[in-house]
Amino acid sequence: MSREILIAPSILAANFARLGEEIAAIDAAGADWIHCDVMDGHFVPNISFGADIIKAIRPLTKRIFDVHLMIAPVDPYIEAFAKAGADVVTVHAEAGVHLDRSLQAIRGLGKKAGVSLCPATPEQAIEYVLDRIDLVLVMTVNPGFGGQSFLESQLEKIRRIRGMIGDRPIRLEADGGITRDNAAAVAAAGADTLVAGSAVFRGNSGADYASNIAAIRIAAEAGRVPKLQDISVQPMRAGEDALVR
Ligand code: DX5
Ligand code: ZN
Repeated sequence: MSREILIAPSILAANFARLGEEIAAIDAAGADWIHCDVMDGHFVPNISFGADIIKAIRPLTKRIFDVHLMIAPVDPYIEAFAKAGADVVTVHAEAGVHLDRSLQAIRGLGKKAGVSLCPATPEQAIEYVLDRIDLVLVMTVNPGFGGQSFLESQLEKIRRIRGMIGDRPIRLEADGGITRDNAAAVAAAGADTLVAGSAVFRGNSGADYASNIAAIRIAAEAGRVPKLQDISVQPMRAGEDALVR
């Protein structure tokens, strides 16, 4: 639980007519990772962009490219996204029946491997691949569109997955409907990596993006502060205030 909070703006909410400038702006605004939402109009009911766009924007920033593949089948395209410059390649557990094979393929290409779960998918879907992954992405909306409302039901799933991860070096990412208002609850549940699209690209200047990212980060970090009931209170002795540590 001591991992630092990372903020990953989703470029799905960027102005595509000025995509290069938008990447530079979120880089300067303090984004930790760049979240790239790839949609195929089949696994999800929307089409976004593919490997060629990722390849084109790759030279514009040194930030980690966090590529979220909402496509099925996924295996035939993993290599193209790896070659385009993805650092983390995340596939959906629901995208096919051979999740273990997809994860082996990603690591075999020298990339970090992630698994994403749709809201209705239980956490048991990752139980037997925990040693093959670097990241779990919990969808906190139904995948396909930006700007949807956060699903509170996913907080319990985040909590359970945090328990399953234990000491493993696996990032726990939440994606969809994240704002400065719910970031504390998401981090308190155990997420350490927060994707945000519309909440980051609100406003139209780099200064707006920077304050949006900072607000989400501050809220998330505050959410990680131990709650009062978790703090041990030393017994009071006469004439002494309680010592809280
Ligand atoms: C949804 C995507 C998310 C989404 C985030 O399918 O995976 O990354 O675009 O956007 P907001 O923060 O607007 O929900
Ligand atoms: Zn995403």
